[in-house]
Amino acid sequence: MASPAASGSGTAAAVPTLLPISLVVAATESWGIGKAGALPWSLPADMAFFKRVTSECAPGRQNAVIMGRKTWASIPPRFRPLRGRLNVVLSTSEDVRAVEGIPDEVLVASSLTQAVSVLATSKASLGLERVFLIGGAAAYAEALASSAPVAVDTVHLTRVFREFECDVFIPPVDEARFALAGFEVRAVMRARVAAG
Ligand SMILES: NC(=O)c1ccc[n+]([C@@H]2O[C@H](COP(=O)([O-])OP(=O)(O)OC[C@H]3O[C@@H](n4cnc5c(N)ncnc54)[C@H](OP(=O)(O)O)[C@@H]3O)[C@@H](O)[C@H]2O)c1
Repeated sequence: MASPAASGSGTAAAVPTLLPISLVVAATESWGIGKAGALPWSLPADMAFFKRVTSECAPGRQNAVIMGRKTWASIPPRFRPLRGRLNVVLSTSEDVRAVEGIPDEVLVASSLTQAVSVLATSKASLGLERVFLIGGAAAYAEALASSAPVAVDTVHLTRVFREFECDVFIPPVDEARFALAGFEVRAVMRARVAAG
């Protein structure tokens, strides 16, 4: 598929429709999500959950997954683009496609607003059902901020009940705030990892 995403700099003018997005994140109790450019843990059940929740849609439709450049780079090459989903990579770099070897069927956007805007305007032509933001930290923080330019309607949060060493953290997801704001925060899975 040819990339409809604008390349180059600048932000999209306005988001035509506030396309609701879901966040999918696994975090420790201190909100650590990554270490040395990878996940700090190996949780096959959580990977299966991630695949299922981001892939499930009606026949003939597809979901989109938006991710930062480093999250794209953290996916083993044989697994990317994430299959059956429209992949969108965020980067401010104009040559990210060449540098990271991003194929044509993956969209590149220079901001979260631009990504959501492009997806909203091409929703029908792309057969889109849901849009998921799958990391990393800056994009999560932007989406969770009270002034966020996007509408988060669901947070799929996997809590990892062991303090793995992390070097990437997200701001705490304020479940009370999201509940009050009418957002849905679901602890969809409780991943318990044996210590030691
Ligand atoms: N536990 C989880 O659920 C989870 C999920 C995802 C990732 N991770 C982990 O988190 C780490 C990667 O996350 P990270 O926060 O370091 O990096 P990241 O967000 O994946 O990538 C950062 C880069 O993405 C681009 N970017 C991010 N937000 C942007 C925006 N709003 N507009 C334009 N460009 C944007 C920028 O690229 P340019 O520099 O090219 O402009 C930025 O330098 C890895 O360790 C990964 O394994 C964990």
